[in-house]
Amino acid sequence: MKVTDRVDSRGNAGLWAGVAVFFMIAAMPLWAHAGNAKQGEKIAKTRSLGNCVACHYLPKVESPGDIGPNLVEAMQEYTMAERKDVVQWIRDAREFNPHTIMPPFGTNKILTPQQIDDVVAYLYTLKKK
Ligand code: HEC
Repeated sequence: MKVTDRVDSRGNAGLWAGVAVFFMIAAMPLWAHAGNAKQGEKIAKTRSLGNCVACHYLPKVESPGDIGPNLVEAMQEYTMAERKDVVQWIRDAREFNPHTIMPPFGTNKILTPQQIDDVVAYLYTLKKK
C-alpha cells in the first residue's frame, strides 16, 4: 500500500463516520417516536403517573387490578400496524368506548405525548411473538 492510499482510506473513514453521525441525528425524532420502553414500564407502574396497574394486570407488580383487561393478553392481539390504536386507547379511550372508566391520559394531560409513546413501547415488549 502506498502512503497516499493509506491517507485516502483514512479520509474515507472520516467521511463515512460523518455520514453515519448525520443519519443518527436525522433518525433521532424516529427514536423519540418509538418511545423508551424502560421509561414506559416505570410510568405504567407508578401510582402518581400512569398507574395502569390500578386497573390492569402487568407482570412483576404486587396485586395489580383486574377492572380492565389483562394487558399482556390484550397486547398479543395488536400488530405493529395497530400501534396508533394502542396509543389512542391511552390518549383517550372514549373514542372506542364512550362510557369507559379508563382515564383520558392524553386529553386530560395526565401524561405527555412522549410518556404515552414510552408506555406503548413498553406494552409492545409484552408481545410474545
Ligand atoms: C380506572 C381504570 C383504568 C386505568 C387506570 C387504566 N385503564 Fe386501560 N382500560 C380500562 C378498562 C375498563 C378497559 C376496557 C375497555 C373499556 O371498558 O373501556 C381498558 C382498556 C385498555 C386497553 C385496550 C385493551 C384491549 O383489550 O384492547 C389498553 C391498551 C389499555 N387499557 C391500556 C392502559 C394503560 C397503558 C394505562 C395506564 C397509562 C391504563 N390502561 C389505565 C381501565 C383502566
